[in-house]
Amino acid sequence: MIPTVKLNNGIDMPQLGFGVFQVPELAACETAVTQALDAGYRLIDTATAYQNEAAVGRAIKKSGIKREDLFVTSKLWVSDFTYERAQKGIDASLERLGLDYMDLYLLHQPYGDVMGAWRALEEAYHAGKIRAIGVSNFYADQLKNLELTMSVKPVLNQIEVNPWYQQSTEVAFNQRDDVRVEAWAPFAEGKHGIFTDPTIAAIAESHGKTVGQVILRWLLQRGITVIPKSVHSTRMAENIAVFDFDLTEAEMHTMGTLDRQESQFFDHRDPVTIEQIFGASLKQLKE
Ligand SMILES: NC(=O)c1ccc[n+]([C@@H]2O[C@H](COP(=O)([O-])OP(=O)(O)OC[C@H]3O[C@@H](n4cnc5c(N)ncnc54)[C@H](OP(=O)(O)O)[C@@H]3O)[C@@H](O)[C@H]2O)c1
Repeated sequence: MIPTVKLNNGIDMPQLGFGVFQVPELAACETAVTQALDAGYRLIDTATAYQNEAAVGRAIKKSGIKREDLFVTSKLWVSDFTYERAQKGIDASLERLGLDYMDLYLLHQPYGDVMGAWRALEEAYHAGKIRAIGVSNFYADQLKNLELTMSVKPVLNQIEVNPWYQQSTEVAFNQRDDVRVEAWAPFAEGKHGIFTDPTIAAIAESHGKTVGQVILRWLLQRGITVIPKSVHSTRMAENIAVFDFDLTEAEMHTMGTLDRQESQFFDHRDPVTIEQIFGASLKQLKE
């Protein structure tokens, strides 16, 4: 049984889930989610942009698991960041997932008409189509601006956090603000030989655990929700077996020394990144 955490709107969310980014092939995604549910995962993290919500929905349906025992997260892409388009985008996610409601729905990126899109999320939240609403890749100033402008506070901010990019300041801000941090790419997608790093490997060996398990445990002990992705059932089982050991204070400190203080993917404040992520959506937004 995966421990849960209470979000700022009072609902419970598993502290660990299963991510399906970069599993675009629908049959492969359906198999992976089926295996993850069999392994005991109950939180699934998908997104409109991953183009696999339908496969997630099929695996959920097939599993026979009671809907109230699952926690389904999806995200709205920036090409739907206007009030009207977001309304349709929410319904389209529900339709593809084959669900009456989602547990959590996020604005995927902090660009464009964030307020218009958020208004649609608020309405869907009040209408019972979504049990909680949140954001992803928002820096502290963007989060505070949204909170002060709108009426429903985000429950969660999904951001990159891993040993190479620990985001101590951003994590502390979200946590002080009672916005749950959820780490994407907890393994930095394997970059810089993370799974064979000697420092993490030494900690892992002393607990009879793997490097991946130590990384997830370190994040959990920082009060961060994790959503590791794998298409291998042995790794799914490995990544969920992280609730039977604790890292010591000294080990937490050692993990802290690994910080490279640099995103392993992209700086969301870099104009070139904004152009890459958001620029391609402008045509659609004008349609
Ligand atoms: N909001 C956002 O902007 C955003 C961005 C990126 C990701 N996300 C979410 O966060 C989730 C996780 O991030 P991610 O998928 O980018 O990367 P990740 O979880 O850091 O890493 C996944 C990679 O690690 C491998 N792996 C997994 N467990 C392993 C283990 N125990 N030992 C060795 N290798 C292992 C996987 O390979 P195999 O699959 O071959 O096992 C895959 O190549 C995503 O799936 C998605 O739901 C959100």
